[in-house]
Amino acid sequence: MPRRPLILSIAFMLLAAAVGTTSNAHAQDAPARITSPDGRIAFTVWSEQGAPRYAVALDNETVVRASRLGFRFAEGAPLETGLALTGTQTGSHDDTWEQPWGERRLVRDHHNELVASFRYAGNPERGFDLRIRVFDSGVGFRYEVMGDAPHAIIDEMTRFNLPEQSTAWWVPAAGWNRYEYIYEETSLSEVDRAHSPFTARLPDDGPWVAIHEAALHDYSGFYLDQQRGGILDVKLAPGPDGIAVHADANFTTPWRTIQIADAAVGLINSDIILNLNEPNVLGDVSWVEPGKYVGIWWGMHINTQTWGSGPNHGATNENTREMIEFAAENGFDGILVEGWNLGWDGDWFNRQETFSFTEAYPDFDIEALSAYARERGVRLVGHHETSGDLTNYENQMEAGFALYERLGISQVKTGYVADAGDLVRYEADGTPRYEWHYGQYAVNHHLRVLQAAAEHRISINAHEPVKDTGIRRTYPNWISREGARGQEYNAWGVPPNPPEHVPTLAFTRLLSGPMDFTPGIFDLMPRGEDAPSRVQTTLAQQLAHYVTIYSPIQMAADLPDNYLARPDAFQFIRDVPTDWETSIALEGEPGQHIVFARQERGGADWYVGAANGGAARHVGLGLDFLEDGRTYTAQLYLDHPDAHWEHNPYAMMIREMQVTSTDEIEFTLVPGGGAAIRFVAEN
Ligand code: NOJ
Ligand code: CA
Repeated sequence: MPRRPLILSIAFMLLAAAVGTTSNAHAQDAPARITSPDGRIAFTVWSEQGAPRYAVALDNETVVRASRLGFRFAEGAPLETGLALTGTQTGSHDDTWEQPWGERRLVRDHHNELVASFRYAGNPERGFDLRIRVFDSGVGFRYEVMGDAPHAIIDEMTRFNLPEQSTAWWVPAAGWNRYEYIYEETSLSEVDRAHSPFTARLPDDGPWVAIHEAALHDYSGFYLDQQRGGILDVKLAPGPDGIAVHADANFTTPWRTIQIADAAVGLINSDIILNLNEPNVLGDVSWVEPGKYVGIWWGMHINTQTWGSGPNHGATNENTREMIEFAAENGFDGILVEGWNLGWDGDWFNRQETFSFTEAYPDFDIEALSAYARERGVRLVGHHETSGDLTNYENQMEAGFALYERLGISQVKTGYVADAGDLVRYEADGTPRYEWHYGQYAVNHHLRVLQAAAEHRISINAHEPVKDTGIRRTYPNWISREGARGQEYNAWGVPPNPPEHVPTLAFTRLLSGPMDFTPGIFDLMPRGEDAPSRVQTTLAQQLAHYVTIYSPIQMAADLPDNYLARPDAFQFIRDVPTDWETSIALEGEPGQHIVFARQERGGADWYVGAANGGAARHVGLGLDFLEDGRTYTAQLYLDHPDAHWEHNPYAMMIREMQVTSTDEIEFTLVPGGGAAIRFVAEN
């Protein structure tokens, strides 16, 4: 990333020194403090020699040590020194709102609020308010800046100062592969630059913490950059002119969030990110429909089919008709077909102006196929791979969505396959400008796509996206996204996703929102037993992913023949819903294991999914989440005790038993193993 010129920083230092002197008179303003509704979490904010600072504690023990706040701009005085805490306002809030779809229908927003006003000593009209909300499961704060001219932000000074002996789970930031890295588990002191959600556990079995952001609008996404011992600085992805954010004179940042929990699952059972987003602005969104889909997709990833034209072209009339039939017969409502449109021939990665979003290859009759899907009670899922050319997509997306709407297609998977920092957009005179996947331009691009899609009653599932910050609350047509290593890495990744991957995702990436992981591979070694790329889980864990990885749209990603070869296991995928009345993360820790229970929305059945890391373990599953006094038939899909992801991955036991809420079910999770259970309500 470009560094800001030295001359500029010297100018800032001089300016800062000058303003800082004036502020001395206001040193040691009384700190302001706000606690969570249960009183356990405290957020303190103050001005130290004119420099705004905050700290966070749990049960009076420090979680985030004194950390700086503020901004530096390309021009004008920085907002980090010479500031006094001139006033505070407090409030509290408790209500429950309903999601149109989600991991739970009802979400409680219960928090206390403090607005801390920081003003320049010499100019009480200028400065910022820090709006802080403290929930029982953590805190969010954002800046509300008031100025007299637009701001060119070069650096946001927010820090998170954690003990460096904490343990951290993270993926590297600012690398070419966007968010698609294998998670590291290291001492915090070994973190370099890391994306959020960033998860850590404080030393000596201390509390769990996850740092992230909420409501990322018209701003750059941040990553964390470790300074000396444990100090994590917010870094904003810069635009092509070196400016991180072009902001109005008055502007509001996204919320900076710190989730805090005694147990790791507490990070998951927290709705802070959603609660800090604005309510739905789209009105009636009954056209945003959760569901399950299959597709012409995995064949391209395991190299038996191609996106481009030729003898192995996947998106043919014949293949698509077969897939439509398979979907209709097995209860799937969507059929994703990639490689249907002109532009895939040759090397399409990072290529510019290549794709058409309205013209199909001659062997794909989009009109006839959509009509056939309608006849069979299902529909195609659209696909728009941009290969990172934002202008080419923005110029065509309206026509692309209009075509899909006319054909009855209501979901579109988009894609931004380009190296990080290599998204391209063109100025009116044709000059190319390069952007980060998480920079301000890309953030705004995604919003334009969502808004254009909403006009056509279309939902978006973005791959290679900007990270999720809960915007689905405001735009419920952002139905899912990728933003981490998904199943595709098991087709061609060297190495593929390790057994710890999904149990780590649950406590990291998935804290931010739904993921289109594309679970459900049944042929676990599609390239042969000796190939480096393969699925490193048991078959039972592939089933468990439908419960452990939340997404309102879930793919059954494998080839139909592989499902038809194992109809007993396939039954779980046919049964499992994708929209939930409620969800509870029951137990687990990053990389170890994760166990979820979820109740179907609009029904009484419950589902449990357990995904295990590399070490075998025993689970005693208490069923007290079930309704008291009700009998359920539990349909269990469990690892055979002799199973192992590496040498015996298919060994699975399918059992049925009657249970009630007072029972406990015991089972073994083998290395890379899993368990999937459906509880059918009987009375
Ligand atoms: C990457 C996506 O993650 C994958 O699902 C898709 O098949 C390819 N891009 C092509 O668009
Ligand atoms: Ca991808």
